[in-house]
Amino acid sequence: MSRRSLKRYLASAAAVAVGAGLTLSVHAQNNYQAVVDAAYAKYKDLKEGKNADYIPALAKVDPNLYGIALVMPDGKVYSAGNLTTQVSIQSISKVFTMAQVIQEQGLESIEKRIGVDATGMRCNSSVAVEFAQKSLGGPELNPLVNPGAITTTSMVTGATSDAVWTKIIGVHNDFAGRQLKVLQDVYKSESDSNQRNQAIGMLMYAYEFIKSNPQQATDLYTRQCSIGVNAKDLATMAATLAFGGKNPATGKQAIDPKNVPYVLAVMATAGLYDDSGKWLYHTGLPAKSGVGGGIIAVSPGKFGIAVVSPPLDDAGNSIRAQRAITDISNALGGNPLASKPR
Ligand code: DON
Repeated sequence: MSRRSLKRYLASAAAVAVGAGLTLSVHAQNNYQAVVDAAYAKYKDLKEGKNADYIPALAKVDPNLYGIALVMPDGKVYSAGNLTTQVSIQSISKVFTMAQVIQEQGLESIEKRIGVDATGMRCNSSVAVEFAQKSLGGPELNPLVNPGAITTTSMVTGATSDAVWTKIIGVHNDFAGRQLKVLQDVYKSESDSNQRNQAIGMLMYAYEFIKSNPQQATDLYTRQCSIGVNAKDLATMAATLAFGGKNPATGKQAIDPKNVPYVLAVMATAGLYDDSGKWLYHTGLPAKSGVGGGIIAVSPGKFGIAVVSPPLDDAGNSIRAQRAITDISNALGGNPLASKPR
């Protein structure tokens, strides 16, 4: 962003922060922190939205939980609010299992088996599966809606369910830069209430998208959705995508740089469910939301960002997360679609 617009934003950021009782330094070195602090303060008292409750454990999460993390190319983290409380990663995990399959089996594996098109339907739609049938000219799903995601999980190779799981949790660990764990209460709660996903898994098997045990695929998918993450984990995962698949904190190459654009493309098309177009229109950022309340967003070469805040809008996306990321990215010139006249 231009110096002038950054200055303008920081002035309003300072006003918001000061209004919220915060002291804010706008010294040059603290610009990023000031932008994060301002977005945090601006939405802290927002009361809109509601936790997801179709997975009973999610309804019990504190709706006031709110954390922002911004990770830069050198791994430096700017943050505000709660960075330690874990929520379940939910649909954000779909990004990393897709990355694992593209890394293992090439970019065509996903495109040919599942498709990379937005469905225009809800993420757990079985009607989308009917329309995407190969006999009707499919596949026209993508790995970020449930039928495509369960299929993606089924594509991770391994002789046993444990061997497949080791790879799935492994890729998430590499992106986050630490050993993540499943939140067992969420896993149990979703396993007890995921009849719809079980049906989708079966349907995907019936239509030959899934070629192995569909119950195993749905179970592993449910487990991956229950991985516990905090805002800093999620921002580090986003930053790993922002910087060519290399984790800026650990230096580990999680996936090859050549595979990153394909992952980001699907996030841009389908990362925020039915509101993906609206999101892209306002931010230009490849992103992914989860019903646990997290959203990750990627500004390629610039930063990775994540916000955790459980209350969701009608489309299933965290309200505070959408607003805070939009403000921060726009203030920092994060929109990769913004061009400048020569
Ligand atoms: O499959 C589900 O319903 C959840 N495990 C994940 C949902 C989610 O975050 C958004 N979309 N389907």
